This record gives sequence, C-alpha cells and structure tokens, in this order.
Amino acid sequence: MSEIFVLSETRGRVGLLTLNRPKALNALNDQLMDQLGAGLLAFDANDDIGCIVITGSEKAFAAGADIGAMKDWSYMDVYKTEYITRNWETIRRIRKPVIAAVAGYALGGGCELAMMCDFILAADTAKFGQPEIKIGVIPGSGGTQRLPRAVGKSKAMEMVLTGRMMDAVEAERAGLVSRIVAADRLLEDAIETATVIAGMSLPAVMMAKESVNRAYESSLSEGVLFERRLFHSCFAMADQKEGMAAFVEKRKPTFKHM
Ligand code: CAA
Repeated sequence: MSEIFVLSETRGRVGLLTLNRPKALNALNDQLMDQLGAGLLAFDANDDIGCIVITGSEKAFAAGADIGAMKDWSYMDVYKTEYITRNWETIRRIRKPVIAAVAGYALGGGCELAMMCDFILAADTAKFGQPEIKIGVIPGSGGTQRLPRAVGKSKAMEMVLTGRMMDAVEAERAGLVSRIVAADRLLEDAIETATVIAGMSLPAVMMAKESVNRAYESSLSEGVLFERRLFHSCFAMADQKEGMAAFVEKRKPTFKHM
C-alpha cells in the first residue's frame, strides 16, 4: 500500500487536508500531489463541505517539489509525463474556496501551491520563497506568474533571481498573505475563517470566487461585465431571497445552498 502523504478530515462543513511528509519537509512528490488532488476533488464534490483548508506542519507548509525525485529526470521524462500539469493543476478546477494555512517554509512548489489557493493565512513563522534558481532551474508551477501579480514585479523579480526568502511580515506588507496569525493559533484560525465562509450561501461563495479570479484573466470592463452577469444570476437563488428577507426581518439567514 502506498504511504499516506495527505491526511483528510472534516471539521463541520470545513474539509481539512494536511500535507504529511514531515521528514522531507512536505516535499511535493507525485504521490503527494495525486493524493492532494484526490482529496480536493472529493471535498469539492461533497455537498456537506463549504470550504477547504490546506495546511502542512509547524516546520513546513512544503519545501518545494521533491528534488531527490527530480534530479535525474530527462527532458523527455518531464515533457512526456506532463510533469506538474498532470497533477499540480487539479487545484485550479476546485470551485469551492481553498485556504492555505502556512507555517514554516513555503518554498518553490510549496510557495506556488500556496499561491494557487484562494488566499493565504500565514503563521508568524512562515517563510516564502522561490529558491529554484539556486538549484539551476526556474519555478515550474506558476511562481514567475503568480508572485509578480501578488507582490509586484520588483519584489518578485528580486526573489526569483536571488532565491531569498521573505518572512511573514514582509509577505503581509507585500500583499502575498491576507493575515498573520500566531503560529499556535494558525490551524484554529484557519478553521474558524473557513467555517465563516462555509456558513455563507455556497453558490454565492462559488460565484464570488469565480468573479474575483476573473480579475486575473480579463480586462476591467470584461471582468465587471462577468461580475454583473453573476450578480444578476444570484436573483435566481433561494439563498438570495432568504438572505435579504432575513436582513429585513432582523434574523439570521438559514441558507439552503441553492
Ligand atoms: N525536496 C526533497 N527533499 C527535501 C526538500 C525538497 N524540496 N526540501 C527539504 N528536503 C529534505 C532534505 O533533503 C532533508 O532530508 P534528509 O533528512 O533525508 O537529509 C529534510 O527534508 C530536512 O531538510 P534540511 O535538512 O535541509 O532542513 P534545514 O532546516 O536545514 O533546511 C530548507 C530547510 C531551507 C527548507 C532546505 O531543506 C531547503 O533549502 N530545501 C529545498 C528548497 C528548494 O530548493 N525548493 C525548491 C524545489 S524545486 C521546485 O519546487 C520546482 C517547482 O517550482 C515546482
């Protein structure tokens, strides 16, 4: 039987996936990425889950792609097997929100995985970086594209070219992470935040995610039009009727997620 590199559990309506390869600082090998993809797809398909959290260990969210596994690969090995595309991009198909709860190292593919999540909560111990340049390659899972979008060209370029790490304070100042949390509160805080999201109308949450993500893929006028069409479609939802009626009646809404 293959090792379990990703632990999957539920906390109410929150799906929690914990990267579990501590001895290798959660280095992201193929089996781990397969298991992470399977865990994400299972929660996405589960009507009882409204938000997903991915976390690692105290020492590392993930220290990158598995260098030991990659070191002898040839061009044909990576090209033919679609290395990275095959199982790293599953997360982009997930329609429910995914939060990265990062403590310790998020380097290389670990930083890229965190950036593929919808937002990052950072422990005060978090360290982010794209150190691939130090091992004679470049980021391979979106780092050169998502980091500049998150922190601007100058800082992203410096980090990608030097491989230096940024700590949680710098990451928050630069807009890479939404908030910093004390390390011993990280998981609790991430679950609380995910629980708040999971308590909202699920279709509204999915539309909000889709619409914010559109900001990266379209012009402003196209994005605003996309948002307006989704906003209009909210009025076909039972949850819109319930949410607005509850506000007017000064009570808590009971969403049916439809
Ligand atoms: N791949 C494979 N194994 C890794 C690893 C990685 N990315 N990162 C750490 N490990 C392993 C180490 O080999 C070591 O294993 P052993 O105990 O069997 O020797 C174990 O994890 C602990 O690591 P260290 O002893 O190095 O721990 P440290 O505290 O001294 O240093 C660190 C921590 C600074 C994170 C250091 O481990 C490090 O620099 N890791 C590599 C970071 C890196 O280069 N990441 C980019 C990978 S390439 C990539 O991700 C491509 C892409 O874009 C998809």
